[in-house]
Amino acid sequence: MDIEAYRYCVIGPGRLGSTVLAGLLEAALPVVAVGVHADDDTDLGAIPRHVRVSDAALEGDLWWLTVPDDEISTVAARLAAALPAARRGGLEPVAIHSSGLGSIHLLKPLFEQGVRVLCLHPLQTFAGEPRAELLRDVPCAVTAHEERDLRLGEELAGRLGMRPFRLADERKALYHLSAVVGCNLLVALESEAKRLMDEATGSAGGLEHLAPLLRTTLDNLLAGGEPAHALTGPVARGDAGTVRAHLRLLDRESPRLARTYRALSLEALTLAAPRLDDEQVRALKDLLEADAAGAAGGGTAGDLAGTAPGGPA
Ligand SMILES: NC(=O)c1ccc[n+]([C@@H]2O[C@H](COP(=O)([O-])OP(=O)(O)OC[C@H]3O[C@@H](n4cnc5c(N)ncnc54)[C@H](OP(=O)(O)O)[C@@H]3O)[C@@H](O)[C@H]2O)c1
Repeated sequence: MDIEAYRYCVIGPGRLGSTVLAGLLEAALPVVAVGVHADDDTDLGAIPRHVRVSDAALEGDLWWLTVPDDEISTVAARLAAALPAARRGGLEPVAIHSSGLGSIHLLKPLFEQGVRVLCLHPLQTFAGEPRAELLRDVPCAVTAHEERDLRLGEELAGRLGMRPFRLADERKALYHLSAVVGCNLLVALESEAKRLMDEATGSAGGLEHLAPLLRTTLDNLLAGGEPAHALTGPVARGDAGTVRAHLRLLDRESPRLARTYRALSLEALTLAAPRLDDEQVRALKDLLEADAAGAAGGGTAGDLAGTAPGGPA
């Protein structure tokens, strides 16, 4: 079935929904309505008329649910309850949700009413002004049980300028975890780096100081090949003295970050190990696996600048 045959209805014009709406309109796909809360009176300008979720069942044949994850099954049940018995021209309706984590089974009430169901998850973050170009070149995970639904999702994602790829429903939790570790936790880590840099420089411009380092690291990481190639620093050099000095400072000043430092440095050591000799790997592993008391003892090399002559390079 041609994707132009459907009457589109986006339910939940929030951060992703309003971007999807802009994308559908730019792609000249027939959007007939926007589904909102019963009491919502947001002015969406030239955008198709607002309808309550139950009325969206009558207005459209393709519903794209961009409500929060926790609301998807409620909205799906409300839509399913309002579906008309006879469909326009025998068209099989379609429902889509866009949760990265949520299973396709969140749409079960609609599936049970004969609606084709699929998930389209753009692997991007949307927070600002909704613009169709924000979807361009964004990888989009397509999840469905049937081949024809996968193809429908691929066609629709491609029409909005995204780069579709297939994702099995049972892999969605793993997939979402990858995105959260790679994106959200990176932000948390950089926030800690900023705090330390602000303290070291006595200013609030820590991120500006870190920016060239951060950009080059990301460029190297994304240049392709293995992440190990982008790894520099004391673990990559096998420099146990510097790591010991960092741990002494962290164990004293910031025990929580010390735990993060140990855990991530052990991950870095796995990447660096093929380039180090066995003795360097063993020394770093012992140091990073020791608790705070163990790390404080032994060794003098690399003591912190200001606490011993000749600080870390
Ligand atoms: N934002 C992103 O970066 C992003 C990226 C990829 C995927 N997603 C996925 O996209 C979906 C929406 O996320 P979002 O960040 O766009 O959320 P959002 O900005 O909070 O938007 C949610 C929209 O749904 C409406 N809504 C909530 N409950 C509703 C209900 N029961 N009936 C009708 N409308 C309802 C909200 O209206 P009110 O505000 O008036 O309650 C709002 O317009 C989620 O599944 C999320 O996982 C988001």
